[in-house]
Amino acid sequence: MIELRTGTREEPADALVVGVGAERDWDEIGRWLSERMGGWLAGYLDAADFTGKEGECLTVPGAGLVPHGSVVLVGLGAQPDAEVLRKAAGNAGRALTRARSVALGLGSRLPGGEEAATLGFLLGQYSFQKHRSEPKPSLTESLRLVGAGEAALAGARKARVVATAVVRARDLVNEPSVNKPPEYLAGVAQEIGERTGVRVRVYDKDELVAGGFGGILGVNAGATHPARLVEMWYEPADARGFLAIVGKGIVFDSGGLSLKTAEGMETMKTDMSGAAATMAAVEAIATLGIPVKVLGITPLTENMPGGSALRPGDVLKARNGKTIEVLNTDAEGRLVLADGLSLAAEAGPDLIVDLATLTGACHIALGDEIAGLFGTGGAPEKVRDAAEAAGERVWVMPLPADYRRKIDSDVADMKNTGPRYGGAINAALLLKEFVGEIPWAHLDIAGPARAAEASHYVPKGATGFGVRTLIALAEALAAGS
Ligand code: BES
Ligand code: MN
Ligand code: ZN
Repeated sequence: MIELRTGTREEPADALVVGVGAERDWDEIGRWLSERMGGWLAGYLDAADFTGKEGECLTVPGAGLVPHGSVVLVGLGAQPDAEVLRKAAGNAGRALTRARSVALGLGSRLPGGEEAATLGFLLGQYSFQKHRSEPKPSLTESLRLVGAGEAALAGARKARVVATAVVRARDLVNEPSVNKPPEYLAGVAQEIGERTGVRVRVYDKDELVAGGFGGILGVNAGATHPARLVEMWYEPADARGFLAIVGKGIVFDSGGLSLKTAEGMETMKTDMSGAAATMAAVEAIATLGIPVKVLGITPLTENMPGGSALRPGDVLKARNGKTIEVLNTDAEGRLVLADGLSLAAEAGPDLIVDLATLTGACHIALGDEIAGLFGTGGAPEKVRDAAEAAGERVWVMPLPADYRRKIDSDVADMKNTGPRYGGAINAALLLKEFVGEIPWAHLDIAGPARAAEASHYVPKGATGFGVRTLIALAEALAAGS
């Protein structure tokens, strides 16, 4: 784990990170730096056309003028908020994976700036190296927050817990499906339980049969690895609210008999991103000791077209007794979530949030970087505010009651597909059948769970989307909002 401490700008380090406002507006550290480096620095910046716009990032050699091997200048624009700081620090983190010691001089422009900068820096340093024959992980061992006090250091420590959780989620999602069958992910949850004191219950296949989890079992029918459902209970004595989180855990989505195209399958190891975010967030919430009761539920199975697979036309009975006609076996996420949400509702939480890489339609509607947010009973507004505070982008979508007729079945209570148009809404309306009267928010993360390109603190591949929103939501509930 990276070491965090406070320090001065004079202490030697492999690199110093300095923020620059629009039109080269220097802060105190920046003024000190320009004095030390003199006209040489201005010339260097002119040559690189660096003015301090958001997103700019330039490495300048220390050249013996400062006690740092190099100086990384990051543009902050005219009015940096927490997200601008996270992104700027993320760019620096990406540029500095070879530096063992880094002095971060970014916090001064904003209250809480150190927390944002530390989070961005740590997330920007991420890369998935596990399966390289010559791994090149980040070498950074220590991060010094220039001029920071105790409160700022505490903020940075919190950021480190959050970053660790996001990294855990990214690692699980980037892992090839062959290495992460349901029993493996259940083991990950158990390890989290041992580390944090979170109580973990794993339902094996027999228990799923006995418990009437027809949705998970239906999707699991064509797979070789048996399904699991994991419950993670964090129950602090001083809990001030009760949050249930349900995460879609399809460890690989081939589509089942309604088989996807080869191209459509390329990224389907990502289809357990909701489950990964759930496990990682529960770990972070428990590690931070946030006074809110949390139940994390992850239904885990592969969606495969084996000889015993679910067939189009089959009818499943979910945990809450409602029946679903399966017309497309590739609409499997809503089948496993039907069981997961039913179980969450039984526990009687104040709020249920689910996260799922649920529909290509949502990806098309909102693109790569924004999650669709649906729900009832004031829950979407709470999740929207938490996402805003955390720096994750969501958009509230409609849940029109009259569209329910589009998933009416000829033989069962509902069918698992509707018209192509409004596909994300049709899926959300099916989920709504399983939450009872409890305020519920659904995040369709089909787009933002995975990034096609790296940018600032988001790497290419798994993003860990949702972890930060869930932690912020737990904090908001604990604070009574
Ligand atoms: N896991 C997919 C959704 C998805 C697609 C996530 C692309 C990320 C990127 C989901 O299980 C699925 O296949 N949904 C179908 C539903 C349809 C058959 C009603 C879809 O969106 O095409
Ligand atoms: Mn599918
Ligand atoms: Zn899926």
